Amino acid sequence: MNGSQLSPERIMQAATGAWAAGILGAGVIHSVFTHLESGADTREAISDSAGLSARGTNALLDGLVGLGFVELVDGRYRNSPEASEFLVEGKPTYTGGFVAFHFADMARWSGMPDVVRTGVPIATDTADVPDNPLWEDLVPAITLLSVPSALYAAEKLGLADAGPISILDVGGGSGIYSAIWLAMNHQARSTQVDWTKVNGIAAAFTAEHDVGDRFHTVDGDFHTVDFGTAEHDIGVYSHIAHQETPDDNVAVFRKFRRALRPGGTLVINDFVVNDDRSGPPFPLIFCSMMLLQTRHGATWREDDYRAWLDEAGFDDVSFHPTPSPATLVLAR
Ligand SMILES: C[S@@+](CC[C@H](N)C(=O)[O-])C[C@H]1O[C@@H](n2cnc3c(N)ncnc32)[C@H](O)[C@@H]1O
Repeated sequence: MNGSQLSPERIMQAATGAWAAGILGAGVIHSVFTHLESGADTREAISDSAGLSARGTNALLDGLVGLGFVELVDGRYRNSPEASEFLVEGKPTYTGGFVAFHFADMARWSGMPDVVRTGVPIATDTADVPDNPLWEDLVPAITLLSVPSALYAAEKLGLADAGPISILDVGGGSGIYSAIWLAMNHQARSTQVDWTKVNGIAAAFTAEHDVGDRFHTVDGDFHTVDFGTAEHDIGVYSHIAHQETPDDNVAVFRKFRRALRPGGTLVINDFVVNDDRSGPPFPLIFCSMMLLQTRHGATWREDDYRAWLDEAGFDDVSFHPTPSPATLVLAR
């Protein structure tokens, strides 16, 4: 040994990342966290209630304890605090859909070396396929990801007390921004542009949150849908810019500029990297996800957003980190 202080620990963790995703994914898919929360606290009880083999249950519980998502106290298993909050079905904070979605996608990562060589995504169901059914799985899975940004933007822009504002959410997905903002401002109304089936998901979601009567949808491709002229006070473009080319982002920002009333604000939420591409870690790593899954996507720099928004006619642009890995970009 050379006496180096360096350890291969982090390399080993990254190399076995699929093990962690596999164990966590199996736990979610077999509702282990939900059974634990309901009181099944031994290997036998989990095996019985989840309908799993004894050998499989033993390995799965060992793995979940090893990963820290399940705790073993006095011979009894229980959820860790974060598993109890985020992995129990039926809770409003349930994030198991996100785990299951990425679990199903895991095999694609073995194509990473080829994709890096060619620059051509492994996915054929890329973001630019019209009415891609992928979105119907993804959108419910990522709903909670945007909550910190929606709450933070609402506070920054004083949306609760903004009166009868009109919101335009482009690629609004589940309708999470509308659900949150319309609930806090009873005079506000909102329009979402998205594919037909996704708009159906959002209509049901906003209805569940008792704001469906002030939520409207426009079905179609946002590259071609007309956003209107001086009709809206707030525009939203959340987790979309990373799938688009620079030219398409500029074109969409121009449509937002025209659609917003004077003084209106465009709210962009995305994984934004530093200008020198030195961080933050999650947006840097997410760039590989875009390489695998899209033909043109990437994570874009603050300077990219500044240049595109300037070109589209926005002159007041600010960047705001959120409690999630996403950054809010506010443009007027
Ligand atoms: C990553 S999701 C983001 C959803 C939501 N804005 C959020 O932050 O949770 C991307 C959304 O954009 C929609 N979308 C993608 N390309 C589109 C296009 N060309 N026209 C209309 N909608 C599109 C998808 O259907 C999906 O709802």
